[in-house]
Amino acid sequence: MKRRKFLLNSSTLILSLIIPKISLARVSKNYFKLTAQLSKFKFDEKGNETSNLWLYNQRSPGPTISVDKGKELIVEFKNLLEEPTTIHWHGIRNINAMDGVANLTQPPVEPGETFIYKFPVNDAGTFWYHAHNKSWEQVARGLYGPLIVQDILPIDFDNDITIVADDWRLTKEYEFDEKSLGSLMDWSHQGRLGNWLTINGESNPKIPLKENTHVRLRLINASNARTLNFQFKNYSAKIIALDGAPCEPFIKSSFQIAPAQRIDFAIDIKNKDLMLFETSTDKLYPTALFPVEKTDSITNNKINLKNLKNWDDFPDLNQPEIIDIHMQGGAMGNLSSAIFNGEKKSLRELASKEAKLWAFNGEIGDYNYTIAKIKMGETVILKIWNDTSWKHSMHLHGHHFWINSFEFGKTPKMVMRDTYLMQPGEKAELIFEANNPGLWLFHCHMLEHAASGMVGVININS
Ligand code: C2O
Ligand code: CU
Repeated sequence: MKRRKFLLNSSTLILSLIIPKISLARVSKNYFKLTAQLSKFKFDEKGNETSNLWLYNQRSPGPTISVDKGKELIVEFKNLLEEPTTIHWHGIRNINAMDGVANLTQPPVEPGETFIYKFPVNDAGTFWYHAHNKSWEQVARGLYGPLIVQDILPIDFDNDITIVADDWRLTKEYEFDEKSLGSLMDWSHQGRLGNWLTINGESNPKIPLKENTHVRLRLINASNARTLNFQFKNYSAKIIALDGAPCEPFIKSSFQIAPAQRIDFAIDIKNKDLMLFETSTDKLYPTALFPVEKTDSITNNKINLKNLKNWDDFPDLNQPEIIDIHMQGGAMGNLSSAIFNGEKKSLRELASKEAKLWAFNGEIGDYNYTIAKIKMGETVILKIWNDTSWKHSMHLHGHHFWINSFEFGKTPKMVMRDTYLMQPGEKAELIFEANNPGLWLFHCHMLEHAASGMVGVININS
């Protein structure tokens, strides 16, 4: 009797110790509302000017959607724009019908219409959502936001911070530069580059941190075309995930992040301010400041990064399906003519009459261009050759691929990503298991390049 009572009490004690922690940590929500609409936004804090942007819930970036792994995410989306749009959930290994590619996986959501996105989220990590109809314009105008899938047993970081970087092109009046949208000069070169860098909608924001804490920093590049080069000051940062997928942790304090890519960092905060600089120009451009507030408490908890396991194992390379993709076009390239709508035309004509400039295997790509048909279960190697004078940020929908990446230095690193930055002349092999049926886009995420031909469909059938 006594013993039973004791047992009962001790288990109640354990429960009461555990429950508050769980319920505090996990306020789980899986239903969100997003509305796309014309919104006012102020870029320059000192000035009075406001800009007309297209935003989700009138915020830039759009609201953070944070959902637990294993849940079904439901987003009620309303389009209050004057043109059709859709939402793509970038990096989610989605069911095809919810992938959000207008005119490929769903009809566009017309002005005034509502569409319910509903899909399970089975991978924890850092993702983002963005418009996928005329993305080169709709994303440039601000239609994007972060999507975080939380692990069920999260690592005990004291702080989990998401920062979304964007490279805007503003006029002298600090207004969104509308007139230069669609410039063929941009489309045939690097894509639309900006002149105003924001982090979570602000320039050089202050994000306070506490001394002796462990921080997880999630960085998203929402730029249309700008590959950002960053450097942390005062700390060494450990990269723990790429495009959502956990990787073997490695220290890297100067790094590049291409359009649509994500990098997660683990940083142990001591007593100095953390600073982030952009380094593309010759001087260090202050991007974000993380002032550190002093405390007397001493860190004792160690972060166990062992809980960060990659989602998948490397696929079986026995009898892979090999798909060659020869990328050509753009300014200073070697493409003189290409097939467009079944007809061979000169690049000069294609550029001036159709605004088409890039090709895969000699064909101007679009949603009707099938790169390959693949049977479910095959291991695929996309052998891509960037035979152009430009970098390209190559993205595959519905899957992550393995890549022996040269993005982090001369020694290649085998990582899993959904977007890979290719250098001019580079040849790369993107390896994945075709385990998700449907019509999946493969395109450059320099959105002007995709719009002018660097896009195609991989058809995976069961
Ligand atoms: Cu993030 Cu097809 O794109
Ligand atoms: Cu490109």
